[in-house]
Amino acid sequence: VPACALSDFELEARKRLEPAIYDFGAGGADGEVTLRENEVAFSRVGLVPRVLRGGGAPELGVELFGSSAAMPVLIAPTAFHRLFHAEGERATARAAALAGVIMVASLASTVAIEDVVEAARSAAPGAAPEIWFQLNVQPDPDFTERLVRRAEAAGCRALVVTVDAPVFGFRRRDRRNGFDDLPDGLHCENLREPGRSGEPGRVRPLAFLRELSWEHIDRLRKLTRLPLVLKGVVRPDDARVAAGRGVDAIIVSNHGGRQLDTVPATIELLPAIASAVEGRIPLLLDGGIRRGTDVLKAIALGARAVAIGRPVLWGLAVAGQDGVLQVLGLLRDEIERALVLCGCRSLAELEPSLLRLVRAERR
Ligand SMILES: Cc1cc2nc3c(=O)[nH]c(=O)nc-3n(C[C@H](O)[C@H](O)[C@H](O)COP(=O)(O)O)c2cc1C
Repeated sequence: VPACALSDFELEARKRLEPAIYDFGAGGADGEVTLRENEVAFSRVGLVPRVLRGGGAPELGVELFGSSAAMPVLIAPTAFHRLFHAEGERATARAAALAGVIMVASLASTVAIEDVVEAARSAAPGAAPEIWFQLNVQPDPDFTERLVRRAEAAGCRALVVTVDAPVFGFRRRDRRNGFDDLPDGLHCENLREPGRSGEPGRVRPLAFLRELSWEHIDRLRKLTRLPLVLKGVVRPDDARVAAGRGVDAIIVSNHGGRQLDTVPATIELLPAIASAVEGRIPLLLDGGIRRGTDVLKAIALGARAVAIGRPVLWGLAVAGQDGVLQVLGLLRDEIERALVLCGCRSLAELEPSLLRLVRAERR
């Protein structure tokens, strides 16, 4: 049976994965209110298409401070890809390179960042690999700096700092499943110290930083010339501060419902942030993007592009590199079809008048 929707990959992945690993990917924090809302909120926004404005195939490419992408969808940073497929982040990176999309590689990758970039490079020789590096600021400032230098040296094109995780969200599914560590043989390879005489070095624990503050962002801004992206901003006031502090972009994100529960759906938070930022820096959005129409709605409300987390993991679990490529290809087809059906000849024609709120009682 062909996969006809991104949700088909989740169904198939669920059949193949150990339940505790499926739950690790699918689950959210606490009562999973935010997790559910992210997806459901898109169905409360209706699309009202224009007609009789036919044109050629719409251009889907986007530019983000020097990085170019074939469509306005990035791969969100997600931890531990080798739990989902033996080739892990290498397979994801190759699929991203082949599809021409930007992959944000997680600090908590089970493949070292140098090898992730190399996998992208080898899959699409000639094209510059578009890998961004996601960082959780670590308590040891020297270690944080070494991570930034590694990302720069590896050829990463931007630094994405996750700001919604000063502590780790509480995931009831993981606690109930006793899922609290990586299985034997898998490690966070970015946290490995250089070893002596060819021996693998020790792996540091992934730490969270309660003290995380704007001063850390200022320090990172001084430390690197890479574009700096904050992931996890959900308020207009914070977005305005970020824009004034030399941050290059924001990802409006509630971490896919995995950190603070009951944060509203990101698609509902986006319009106020877009008004506050007034186009000074590009906005990206993630959380609950499962179909092409979701992407259109986010762009119509002010996002330059979106990112997907779980659908990539499900594609990876189903068929490795090819599964991720299928997910990206399906989403691309859906975006293109929905854009034409909306009477838009380009992403730039997406705007709020195409949207209507669907009243809850009439859903
Ligand atoms: C299994 C899993 C692991 C994740 N790991 C990270 C991570 O290491 N760093 C990070 O900033 N966000 C992480 N996220 C959050 C994603 O970057 C993203 O915000 C979220 O998945 C988007 O929602 P979606 O899954 O509904 O598309 C993770 C999400 C999932 C599902």
